[in-house]
Amino acid sequence: MSPQYARRSVAALSVLAAAIAAEASETVGASINAKGVTEIFGNHFGMPGVNATYDYVVVGGGTAGNTIAARLALDPANYSVALIEAGTFYEILSSNRTQVPGYNFEAANPTNVGTLSSMTAVQIDTEPIAGYNGRKIGYVQGMTFGGASAANYGGYMRSTVGAHDRWAKAVKDDFWSWDNVFPFYKKSCNFSAPDYTKIDPKLNISYDPAAYDAAGGPLHVSYGNYVAPSMVGIGEAMERQGLEHIPGFDSGRLLGYGSLLAAIDPRTATRSSSETSFLQAGAKSAGLRIYPNAMAKRIVFDSDKKATGVVVKGNSKTTNVEWTISAKKEVIVSAGVWRSPQLLMVSGVGPSATLSQHGIDVIADLPGVGQNQWDQPFQSHIFKVKVETNSQIVAHNPKVLADVTNQYLTNQSGPLSSIGATQAAGYENIPASMRQRVLSNDTQALMDSYPSDWPDINFLGLESSAVPADIGPDEYYLLYTDMFAEKIADAILKGE
Ligand SMILES: *[C@@H]1O[C@H](CO)[C@@H](O)[C@H](O)[C@H]1NC(C)=O
Ligand SMILES: *[C@@H]1O[C@H](CO)[C@@H](O)[C@H](O)[C@H]1NC(C)=O
Ligand SMILES: *[C@@H]1O[C@H](CO)[C@@H](O)[C@H](O)[C@H]1NC(C)=O
Ligand SMILES: *[C@@H]1O[C@H](CO)[C@@H](O)[C@H](O)[C@H]1NC(C)=O
Ligand SMILES: *[C@@H]1O[C@H](CO)[C@@H](O)[C@H](O)[C@H]1NC(C)=O
Ligand SMILES: *[C@@H]1O[C@H](CO)[C@@H](O)[C@H](O)[C@H]1NC(C)=O
Ligand SMILES: *[C@@H]1O[C@H](CO)[C@@H](O)[C@H](O)[C@H]1NC(C)=O
Repeated sequence: MSPQYARRSVAALSVLAAAIAAEASETVGASINAKGVTEIFGNHFGMPGVNATYDYVVVGGGTAGNTIAARLALDPANYSVALIEAGTFYEILSSNRTQVPGYNFEAANPTNVGTLSSMTAVQIDTEPIAGYNGRKIGYVQGMTFGGASAANYGGYMRSTVGAHDRWAKAVKDDFWSWDNVFPFYKKSCNFSAPDYTKIDPKLNISYDPAAYDAAGGPLHVSYGNYVAPSMVGIGEAMERQGLEHIPGFDSGRLLGYGSLLAAIDPRTATRSSSETSFLQAGAKSAGLRIYPNAMAKRIVFDSDKKATGVVVKGNSKTTNVEWTISAKKEVIVSAGVWRSPQLLMVSGVGPSATLSQHGIDVIADLPGVGQNQWDQPFQSHIFKVKVETNSQIVAHNPKVLADVTNQYLTNQSGPLSSIGATQAAGYENIPASMRQRVLSNDTQALMDSYPSDWPDINFLGLESSAVPADIGPDEYYLLYTDMFAEKIADAILKGE
């Protein structure tokens, strides 16, 4: 063998080894990278029970936390970053229920929270609400890497130009205006056009290519590899009702009807969450340490009231272990709309009267923390329909399940590859004549104070609905929801 040939075959072998290693390093275990360096999966994780210090400590591995932690860890400044999450990986927690988009009727169904069908979320209930006839309303939060992006139905849409501009005015920071934020919307996601070898071309999905960026990523957005035919009729009804057909909901406009995108990686037809996208990209950085099953108990402040770290408590086998993760630069609280204010308040940041009532030393008296939550109530209607929907999957019809599973696993297509919210999502403003008839002057004045592109009502069809226990093998249902904007929630709660 000539020395030159030997050199070439060694080179070829090491290319092959690097390719195999690259593949193996995607999984749990250890591998050797292209530079011959050992990569141990466990190195991505922090050690429970052991105090440690990082540049940044990010609390909450949800939609915002994973994104922030990954971006910091991938910064050329090579920051060290700890990411603390009370839950763990949904791929491990709940079999395939969260990964397969078509199972969202189980995994993301609020009535399943806390049961074995939905182990990735937790619920807190409100106090009884007068306008809801004294009922308590349950709020679901993802408690897993990915947060709500791993516990929701998986739809993807953006806000409006007017809503962003109002936001910018409210916080007196022009960064939040639509024109400034739009490039970041484009930067965060990777759009795939409908694949008409898998989706019925007759379904004619229209979208706005200018809303996405070829170099975008890492969050995958697509239509799954299936668009259910069941909503064609609803689209026609919306058209007759006067809603304009618009090319999707990602260009700063919502009023009209069109096709809803989903956070799905079309290659595998699995859920794209902030964990599969941002966190996994960030985990490749040597500077990121992930702490699963680590519940943030309290933020630590020094004598100058500067946040210096977080006390965390094990949330699994390490339940009785408490340790401190310190920050040289900043503690970033991204624990969600409920847990962020809760963590601030137990740490002494919030309305002093409330803190004192619970014996918490006040670090900063900030009356706004934990107050003024607004929400969008929605109501659902279930219809029996003559077109095929997911009903037989919901009803666990063995023949249908075998067929759709086979199609999904061998072709990455069919109903399990989609979120079952189809091409007829719509947004509308209540016509002025009707507003005057049914709403008080105060409510109308409040509504008029909002930007005109801010919709009053969202209509959404969902393939998966509850089905009767005695459903026949050829029977189908679908779910149709109306969601009301925050601005009219008040009127609804008062029973107007
Ligand atoms: C980044 O930090 C890690 C851990 O501190 C270190 O191993 C690595 O060499 C650093 N990389 C660069 C480019 O400075
Ligand atoms: C197809 O899309 C266009 C707009 O892109 C719309 O005008 C038309 O009504 C759609 N046709 C069907 C059959 O949905
Ligand atoms: C976007 O997703 C496609 C697969 O749908 C992939 O081939 C491509 O590499 C991705 N682009 C980026 C910038 O990640
Ligand atoms: C960890 O840090 C906390 C807070 O500074 C301290 O009280 C505790 O003793 C430390 N634990 C160890 C093992 O050093
Ligand atoms: C999901 O996992 C269950 C077992 O928990 C299995 O029966 C089912 O076939 C899997 N579904 C898919 C689409 O792979
Ligand atoms: C997969 O797709 C091919 C065409 O692309 C089709 O012939 C085949 O029946 C599909 N298989 C399943 C299981 O859906
Ligand atoms: C509401 O406004 C209309 C027109 O501005 C006025 O005529 C009416 O009296 C008002 N209703 C109430 C209850 O104030």
